[in-house]
Amino acid sequence: MKRLISFILCVTVALSLTSCSFGGVKKKLTDPDLTYSMEELEELQTRELKISDYELPALYKYFEGKCRIGVVTDGYEYTNYETDDRAKGILKNYNAYVLENAMKPDHCNPAPGVYDFDAADAFVKTGELGSAELRAHTVVWHSQVPEWWFKADPEDTGSVKECYKKGRLATREQLEERLRTYIDELVPRYKNTVKYWDVVNEAISDNDNIIKDHTEKSYWSEIFGDVDGDGYYDDYIEYAFNTVREVGGDDLVLMINDYYMEWDETKTQKMYDTVERMLRKGVRIDGVGFQSHIGSDIDIDIYRKNLEKISGLSKIYDECFPEYKGNFRIQITELEMNMRVGELADAGFHPWSDEDYAYQADVYYRLFDMLMDFADQGIIDLILFWGTDDGHSWINSDLKENVPLLVDRKYRVKPAYWAVARAAIEHSGK
Ligand code: G3I
Repeated sequence: MKRLISFILCVTVALSLTSCSFGGVKKKLTDPDLTYSMEELEELQTRELKISDYELPALYKYFEGKCRIGVVTDGYEYTNYETDDRAKGILKNYNAYVLENAMKPDHCNPAPGVYDFDAADAFVKTGELGSAELRAHTVVWHSQVPEWWFKADPEDTGSVKECYKKGRLATREQLEERLRTYIDELVPRYKNTVKYWDVVNEAISDNDNIIKDHTEKSYWSEIFGDVDGDGYYDDYIEYAFNTVREVGGDDLVLMINDYYMEWDETKTQKMYDTVERMLRKGVRIDGVGFQSHIGSDIDIDIYRKNLEKISGLSKIYDECFPEYKGNFRIQITELEMNMRVGELADAGFHPWSDEDYAYQADVYYRLFDMLMDFADQGIIDLILFWGTDDGHSWINSDLKENVPLLVDRKYRVKPAYWAVARAAIEHSGK
């Protein structure tokens, strides 16, 4: 009997080791003889390859030892990856995933006491199959939060704006209680499978304020108010981080995420000051997400400068949380490159040429060359694309067909795919 038990134990351990070290389904989807070298890249980029092709190198492998490479998913890829190129490409090429909309509070908690976690549960299965780390996006935001959270009477049929004007907004106690109830449902369900959490999204103001208020369609700061009387309306941020931490535990990586920091130094400074204030108050924020909805006219030097600014927070984090030293990070959370800039911005249909794609590849190359400097220092640990391919991007509309990603509408890899791989190889000295 003893022998039988130890045999079963050995087999179980061997099986689990095998599935971990070979990366689950990823091994099945990519030719193991690929070398990820520059010579190989030069040869492969002359061929027409799709993201799902076995002989295409898996994108994430170029970045191993530097950072993860992620992408937005629908959640259900685990069900159809054997027949669907896009799903297969997601499982094969990336080792971090996020849901585009289905983990936002309006989806998960549409009415009091009503929860919908079907897509998020599926997302966890896709993550397991793809041996990927997962991001939860997002717990607190001013958009895609159920309107009833902000109303004194959740049945009120008026808009939140109308409730604001007529004094029918929720009280702080109500909003706190609704957020707490939501976090109690959401976080225990995913705390063992989802590592990175956007606890607060897009809180920093684009006007003269520091934190967004109703003038930017956010009601959080005014409903919560300045609880501790320090003159800053960021107490809801503190409450959200502390509550997710309390419910989720010390292992979760809790992030604040925002846009425009890639080029806006004032906004970056506001983010820096806000996170510093939080850290010094004992609120453990583990990192800042640069969304990076950039255009092909991006000034890479300014982007670098702003990343350097936020990197400076890691020293303050280490001082405030010495037991978690080195745990502060930056993630690039929603990357795509809008090609419709300058005179193209307002134009109608534009036929993209080989020159356009070559130009885009060059900007992506220079961008990744810069980002790899931060990955090499260990401060950037993830770069995630907000779309799998040019046909699946929020910045498209019928008349303004955009081409912002590494993959075209037929799932063929573009010159930009090889450009970012090249930047990674050069940083590895391969
Ligand atoms: O849910 C409804 C559905 O019921 C309806 O049938 C359908 C018809 O149009 O609309 C659906 O809602 C859409 C939703 O995406 C889900 O598909 C909304 O209209 C649409 O506005 C929404 O857009 C999302 C947008 O966030 C909303 O703010 C985009 O897909 C999503 O890519 C985008 O993502 C944001 C990040 O969360 C935060 N940073 C900026 C980024 C880009 O805006």
